[in-house]
Amino acid sequence: MRITMGVTGGVAAYKAAELVRLLQQDGFTVEVVMTRGAREFITPLTFAALTGQKVITDLFGNTENEANLESAIEHIAVAQRTDLLLVAPATADVIAKFARGIADDFLSTLYLASTAPVVVAPAMNVNMWNHPAMQENIAKLRERGVNVVQPNEGYLACGMVGAGRLAGHQEILAAVRETLHWNRDLTGETVLVTAGPTCEDLDPVRYLTNRSSGKMGYAVAQAAARRGAKVILVSGPTALETPPGIRRIDVRTAEQMHEAVTKEFAGCSIGIFAAAVADYRPARKHADKIKKSGGSLTVQLEPTVDILQEMARAKGDKFIAGFAAETADVEQNARKKLAAKNLDLLVANDVTAEGAGFDHDTNVVSLYFRDGRDMALPKMGKAEVAQRVLDEIVRLRGALRTKPAKRLSVV
Ligand code: PMT
Repeated sequence: MRITMGVTGGVAAYKAAELVRLLQQDGFTVEVVMTRGAREFITPLTFAALTGQKVITDLFGNTENEANLESAIEHIAVAQRTDLLLVAPATADVIAKFARGIADDFLSTLYLASTAPVVVAPAMNVNMWNHPAMQENIAKLRERGVNVVQPNEGYLACGMVGAGRLAGHQEILAAVRETLHWNRDLTGETVLVTAGPTCEDLDPVRYLTNRSSGKMGYAVAQAAARRGAKVILVSGPTALETPPGIRRIDVRTAEQMHEAVTKEFAGCSIGIFAAAVADYRPARKHADKIKKSGGSLTVQLEPTVDILQEMARAKGDKFIAGFAAETADVEQNARKKLAAKNLDLLVANDVTAEGAGFDHDTNVVSLYFRDGRDMALPKMGKAEVAQRVLDEIVRLRGALRTKPAKRLSVV
C-alpha cells in the first residue's frame, strides 16, 4: 500500500519524519510531498533519506533543470499511484485550499487530482483552530469523506494552551488504517460474491444483457479480500481484472452463474450478490443466426432461476446480502425484496440517480436491515460503498455471535 504524505509548514513538521518511520514499519510505502512552508522547518533531504525516494516540492519540477513536461504532469502520476493521501501536519492554509479547491502548489493540486481517500491531521494555534472559518472548512472536508484527525489539547509552540497540537503518531496511524479498512476483520470468513451482467443467447450472434460493468461486485470482492476473507468471485462477462488474492469463476449465462454459485455456496459463510442477473432468457436458443424476414419478430422469454432467493432459502447461519437495482419506489421495493428473498441485508441503488448504479465509479445506496432499520449513504466511490457494506456485515455477524445464549429456567 502506497501513502503519499503531504508535509506542510508548521512547527510540528519535524514530527512528520517520525511518522514516516512508523508508517513504514506498519508496511506502507511512503512518498513525501512538501510545501514551500514545510521546507522552512525541515529539509527534503530528511524525508528522501527515510523513504529512499525523491521528495516532491514543486509543481513544475524541484529545480530549473527538472522543469519539463514530465514534472508538469507528475501530480497526475502521483495521484494515480497513491492509495491514500495523508497530510500531517496540515496547516490552516492547506485545509482552506482543500476545502475551496484551490490548486496553486503540488499538494493542493494533488488533492484535486486524486480519488484516493484522504486523512488530514491539523496542527496550528488554538485560536486559528477554533476560528469559524477553520471549523467551516473542516466541516466541509468531513462532509466530503476526509478523515480529519482531531488535534490534541496542550501547550502549543506559540505558548498558548488549547486544541491545536498535532495528534499523536499512533492516533494518526489508526486513522490511516481505519480509512484504508486495513483491519483484517473478515479473517476466517469465506465470502462468495457475484458480479457483472449475464448474457442470454438468442442465436449465435445475438444475446440479451444489461449495463452492469461488474465494478460494484469487484469492489466488494477486493474489499473483502483486503479485510482477510477468502473470496470466491462468480463473475459475468466484464472487462475488469481479477483483484489480487481472489478465486474468480467466469460464467456467461444466469444458468451458469446458478451452477457455479450452487457448487461454491456450501463452503461459504457470507454471500454478497451484486450481479445483475437476467430475470428472463430467450425460451429458445436458435442454432443458426435468425434471418431477417420482412415482418415483425416475437421472442418468447422464460424466467431464470432466482439464484439469490434459492441460496437464501436454506441459508442456516450464513449471512446473505443482496443488491437491488431500482428505478422507482426504491424503499418499498427494497423492503419487499429483503423479506421475499430472506436476506440479512439489502443494498438498494436507484440506478436512475446521478452517479449511481451501472458502470459508474461511484454509487448512491441505501442499506435495509432485517430489523426494519435503514441507512442512506451519500454518493461515494464503489470501493468505499463496498467497505461500508462490509462494515455493517462485520458488525451484524459480531452481534449475532455475541448474542447471549437463552437462559434455561430450572423449576
Ligand atoms: O456492475 P456495475 O456497473 O458496477 O453496477 C452495479 C449494479 C447496479 C449492477 C449493482 O449495484 C446492483 O444493483 N446489482 C443488483 C442488480 C440486480 O439484478 O438487481 P435486482 O433487483 O434485479 O435483483 C435483486 C437481487 O437478486 C440481486 O442481488 C441479484 O443479484 C439477485 N438475482 C436476481 C435475479 C436472478 N435471477 N438471480 C439473482 O440472484
